[in-house]
Amino acid sequence: MSRKLAVIGMGHVGSTAAHYIVANGFADDLVLIDLNEDKVVADAIDLQDAMPNLPYHTNIVVNDYAALKDADVIISALGNIKLQDNANDDRFAELPFTSEQVPAVAKKIKESGFNGVIVAITNPVDVVTSIYQAVTGLPKNRVIGTGTLLDSARMKRVVAEQLHIDSRSVVGYNLGEHGNSQFTAWSTVRVLGHPISEVAEAKGLDLTALDKQAREGGFRVFHGKKYTSYGVATAAVRLANTVLNNALSELPVSNYREEYGVYLSYPAIVGRDGIVEQVQLNLTDEEVKKLQVSADYIKTKFAESQA
Ligand code: 2OP
Repeated sequence: MSRKLAVIGMGHVGSTAAHYIVANGFADDLVLIDLNEDKVVADAIDLQDAMPNLPYHTNIVVNDYAALKDADVIISALGNIKLQDNANDDRFAELPFTSEQVPAVAKKIKESGFNGVIVAITNPVDVVTSIYQAVTGLPKNRVIGTGTLLDSARMKRVVAEQLHIDSRSVVGYNLGEHGNSQFTAWSTVRVLGHPISEVAEAKGLDLTALDKQAREGGFRVFHGKKYTSYGVATAAVRLANTVLNNALSELPVSNYREEYGVYLSYPAIVGRDGIVEQVQLNLTDEEVKKLQVSADYIKTKFAESQA
């Protein structure tokens, strides 16, 4: 069965995702869409120039919304590429731009007859994922945001750095908004075969400081290069592959949680049909409170975006 992916928004993140897809042969067909026709045509040619040196071939079409009809996954990477100085390190600085652009793109996706899974990167991703779901009318389980899949990776990086181990050997989640109200649910984090609470004591880890480093990891990168790309693009393509392969992986992605009435990042089982099953964590009272604060913040900001 042909694997068809699409990337909408070919800025730093979208073009990184597109290259990752082509270089690894993750798709047989790839649709690239961007408002800047010259750029997206050049990206397609540039990617085709990579193919003679790759063991994979990918059929690429550009700026053809009709081609989305039989796509399996659409990755939304559109954003305000001019946002060089993100006001107050807040992803909601993108909302004035994306609350204009996303509904227009979502409407075209709906008109194309697309019936697959949307993976949203576009920020503020929890609100943007809600907008994609509302405008396309796709079932909530088939509209997902990368959310704290990326922040959980940053948490793994900072913990692994402290313990001098492979970041892939850290297990656990950041939860809530992919933004400033997110937090590391330390009760879910295990490392060296033990709950991190035990390891922290033995190794003298400052979990409060590590939580902050993980939450602010994106801005550390942003301040250095004026955007982020590799971490978030890799998270998005992993998520797209999890859908394509029906991998049934448990991932902390932005998904609609009935009990909060909003999209926020919480672990779920992801497969061909998007969110296949929602996980229920045994969080501490403090973590439950933090999650509620984050959910309320997202809900408030979503309402503002609709006003
Ligand atoms: C990040 O944190 C782009 O929000 C994304 O890298």
